Amino acid sequence: MKDYLATIVKNEKIAENIHAVTFALDEDIKVRCGQFGNISVGGVHLLRRPIAICKVEGREVTFCYQIKGDGTKKLKDMEAGTRLSVLMPLGNGFFVEEEEQKIALVGGGVGVFPLISVLREYYGKKHISAYIGYRNKAAVCGVDEFGKADTFIAVTDDGSYGEKMNAVQAFEKALLAGNRPDVVLACGPTPMLRALKGVAERENLSCYVSLEERMGCGIGACLVCVCDLTDGKKARVCKDGPVFNASEVVL
Ligand SMILES: Cc1cc2nc3c(=O)[nH]c(=O)nc-3n(C[C@H](O)[C@H](O)[C@H](O)COP(=O)(O)OP(=O)(O)OC[C@H]3O[C@@H](n4cnc5c(N)ncnc54)[C@H](O)[C@@H]3O)c2cc1C
Ligand code: FES
Repeated sequence: MKDYLATIVKNEKIAENIHAVTFALDEDIKVRCGQFGNISVGGVHLLRRPIAICKVEGREVTFCYQIKGDGTKKLKDMEAGTRLSVLMPLGNGFFVEEEEQKIALVGGGVGVFPLISVLREYYGKKHISAYIGYRNKAAVCGVDEFGKADTFIAVTDDGSYGEKMNAVQAFEKALLAGNRPDVVLACGPTPMLRALKGVAERENLSCYVSLEERMGCGIGACLVCVCDLTDGKKARVCKDGPVFNASEVVL
């Protein structure tokens, strides 16, 4: 992990309320899929904003972000040439065992972005099925990337793109049809992850979830991001996670 002074080369809208910002670095960077960066947007926003690393191409790193509050609004207005401090790569990321050949990606909301990094890491090496839920057609993004998966099922809350259902329901439908993965990797809102954990337990599936707690330091020092584990212990989402075995974390 390092504090990079990164230069914005592109910052553009990719879907309704969602932007992608690409930074150029002065040196190479090695990132695992599912790791994140903690971006300083400067000014009065002392706390950095944690955003998943979506794509690394050479010395360029891309993050996709939903405009939510002051920090992301400020980031959206930043132009090419702006230099920001970005702490990265942070967190553990997703790991897939050698013997796990069939991966199911289940994502919703801003959880789709770290899953793009998984797809990019394992594309051509594993059999990948992606079940991705969006709010509506206007929110659909990442189709070029997910389209490279062996199976890509996009669904929406209102049925304006794909079937009207959520990502977990789409995954369950595939399970019923006999498409059983060796491992499930997921990211999305907590209720979605909770529902998925239930399905994984019922079906006896190995399942890993990436959590999106509010964060402070992002490096394990402030304990803002602590979550509960099923054995009664606590874990720091930024340092011990953000990826946890679903069976070991309280959702
Ligand atoms: C490991 C990790 C990876 C993430 N990856 C992405 C990503 O790839 N793309 C993306 O768009 N967002 C991602 N997020 C969420 C992102 O960090 C927040 O949306 C962002 O910090 C909001 O900043 P803001 O200043 O715009 O909003 P704020 O003014 O700080 O908050 C606006 C609203 O967003 C809520 N909020 C703030 N932080 C979070 C959070 N961490 N989780 C849920 N709700 C939050 C607040 O409660 C408030 O309602 C990630 C979070 C984590 C912890
Ligand atoms: S954000 Fe400070 S310990 Fe996790």
